[in-house]
Amino acid sequence: MAQRIDANEIKIIYCSCGKRLLVFWNYNINFSAIKCSQCLAKELSRSYQTCRFHFPIADMIFKISRFSGIKCASQTLYRLLSTQPIQSVIELHNNKYESDDYFNLTPKILTYLDQNLHLKKNHPLSLIRQRIVNFFYNEYANPKGTPLFSVFDRMSPIVTVKQNFDSLLIPENHPSRAKSDCYYINREYMLRAHCTAHQVELLRSGLDNFLIVGDVYRRDEIDATHFPVFHQVDAVRVIHNDKLFKNNPDLEIFEKNYSENHNSTSIGSSEKCIDQVKQPCHTVESVKLVEYEMKNALERLVITLFGKKLKFRWVDAYFPFTQPSWELEIYHNDKWFEILGCGIMRNEILSKAGIHNSIGYAFGLGLERLAMIIYDIPDIRLFWSQDSGFLNQFNEKDLNKTIKYKPISQFPQCSNDISFWLPSELSFETFSLNDVYDVVRNIGGDIVEQVTLLDKFTHPKTGKNSLTFRIIYRHMERTLTQKEVNEVHEAISNELIKKYNIKIR
Ligand code: DAH
Repeated sequence: MAQRIDANEIKIIYCSCGKRLLVFWNYNINFSAIKCSQCLAKELSRSYQTCRFHFPIADMIFKISRFSGIKCASQTLYRLLSTQPIQSVIELHNNKYESDDYFNLTPKILTYLDQNLHLKKNHPLSLIRQRIVNFFYNEYANPKGTPLFSVFDRMSPIVTVKQNFDSLLIPENHPSRAKSDCYYINREYMLRAHCTAHQVELLRSGLDNFLIVGDVYRRDEIDATHFPVFHQVDAVRVIHNDKLFKNNPDLEIFEKNYSENHNSTSIGSSEKCIDQVKQPCHTVESVKLVEYEMKNALERLVITLFGKKLKFRWVDAYFPFTQPSWELEIYHNDKWFEILGCGIMRNEILSKAGIHNSIGYAFGLGLERLAMIIYDIPDIRLFWSQDSGFLNQFNEKDLNKTIKYKPISQFPQCSNDISFWLPSELSFETFSLNDVYDVVRNIGGDIVEQVTLLDKFTHPKTGKNSLTFRIIYRHMERTLTQKEVNEVHEAISNELIKKYNIKIR
């Protein structure tokens, strides 16, 4: 009666009692007989022993309100056989989507939604995002001095297939649409595979200079350099004819014989557009001017990020949404790395978005690759680490300061706090925190990973000042026992008492 399912996919279904359930599934399953644990128990009304085949369902099905809490005991799910198909609904970001044969989200991938690493304080991806945004704010300002570029860094990664592909003239048969490469909710909706997916909607809303920052999803293996979620900055800059040729009113963006009606509007037409000089509609002058401005800005961006000594090169490329297109490669550790794609925006995209008599450039870059090179981060999985040994290394107020990642131990951290009163003659200003840090490092040595000031407090009656520090201990080669940590911690307290006459609270 029960059948084993290899559970590597996820689905939400409703029990006949109305309860929402989360199950792992593959495409061939029919869910009509899956019930919540209570209904199942009622229906079977047998002892646990005799229906042990069915109880794993109860164990694997969870009433859920959030995806992030998912845990399961094993990778196997059992189901009851049934012949009746049912329509399944998945709820994401408060919207309900009916899944179909394209659905291929996994429980794991859903745990990455909403993590917004690019907005997380002191996260390396967030530091790079801020540096890029600041660069564009400084580079392009309105006459009044306000930034020209708008920044969108909280757009939902759930987009339509139209946004992700069709709106960008990506042909129907383009390999990037494959189910094996993207995360689909159904035939209409997916997790964006690039931030370029928002380009057209923002252009339509009347914007002409903007940056989009966000998480993107592509099915991929997981190893030191591949991860199915990463972060991108995508940008658009549109320039009107009057601005581009302010100083040369005789020049034009478009060829004389070009009429917008000649634009090919069918998707797929990009296949013909592989002329690396220009699109047929544009004049050479306009393309060269915009190409020069774009390359100049991007070269200055990478020099700002990597330093003056950077070696880089431009390589011809092809994207369905730009023509001509290029990739920028930088030289690092004896290898060339592609770090961004860019080009002159296809005029069909602009004119369909209602933008006329203008030409634009666009580019997209990956934040992980930049951060790995800039900070010497050896493994892409580290970006998802919650370990304070990783995150604290990026706790830096000066965005431009050189940070080089130091490998963290695989062994667990052990955290102990210490609170003490300063001698009454000392204030917070006259007591040097560095004295504490020195004692901690001298006594604790290499097993001290971090020391942070947690709290400053002045007693309302006695006026005495107190400080609390958190010391995190961790060994590079083994797990520390609480006992040995306590001994070191005590030795630190004793030394502080002896040297600075403090009183432990
Ligand atoms: N979307 C491209 C990618 O993910 C990168 C890209 C290339 C973005 C050219 C652009 C662009 O906006 O104009 O690989």
